[in-house]
Amino acid sequence: MSATKLIVGNWKMNGLLADSKARAQQLGSAVAATKDAVFDMVLCPPATMIGAVIDVLAGSSVQCGGQDCHTEPSGAYTGNISAAMLKDMGCTHVIVGHSERRQYHAETNSLIAAKAAAAHAAGLVAIICVGETDAERTAGQADSVVAAQLAESIPLSATSENTAVAYEPVWAIGTGKTASADDIRQMHAHIRAKVSEKVTSGGAQIKLLYGGSVKAANAAEILHIAHVDGVLVGGASLAADDFIAIAKASAG
Ligand code: 13P
Repeated sequence: MSATKLIVGNWKMNGLLADSKARAQQLGSAVAATKDAVFDMVLCPPATMIGAVIDVLAGSSVQCGGQDCHTEPSGAYTGNISAAMLKDMGCTHVIVGHSERRQYHAETNSLIAAKAAAAHAAGLVAIICVGETDAERTAGQADSVVAAQLAESIPLSATSENTAVAYEPVWAIGTGKTASADDIRQMHAHIRAKVSEKVTSGGAQIKLLYGGSVKAANAAEILHIAHVDGVLVGGASLAADDFIAIAKASAG
């Protein structure tokens, strides 16, 4: 288990400028006031707010990321944003393959691998998301579904420096149903084995994040499970007090 936990807030399609800036400001100050920080914090706001959030975070250790990127650095792709553009804004990370992108935008593993490779080419850390649905878990297919997602969504360019993997069981996202500690322990060990096989350059060091109804009340337990190197938080990252409490649960 690596010592510094990676705490990522995925704001999804929430917030407007004033509340987003206020939240970033509050988090930046709270992190600055935290002694012996045992976490790195990344905020992933909607694209329209990235510039403002980065301005607010100037001089802070809190970093910023995108929620998605295109596979190409530029071109005739109306409505899309490239990894190079995120990097140019000052982002350090980008989430790719979130289950909401897989579900609502029909994103495939091979597209996600191309997006992650684009992120790497732009100098961003790709946070590659995987996770089974309720039906797949009930059918006993969770391990095989996640193994296939890992095999096909992680590009050859992945290293421990430029990639994190987030396990987000679809049935735990926004539902208040967190995976049990045993489920997380078992799945993260499985993911570690698969990622180590696939990524010869430091696969054992790639940060593995858990996501799905993480909140202040369950963060400490989750963050101390073997092979959980951080969390990817949706709803609870929209309240600064809750999110900083989650980050501080990294200690100990
Ligand atoms: P919730 O924390 O709201 O369940 O969302 C998890 C998620 O999808 C983070 O990417």
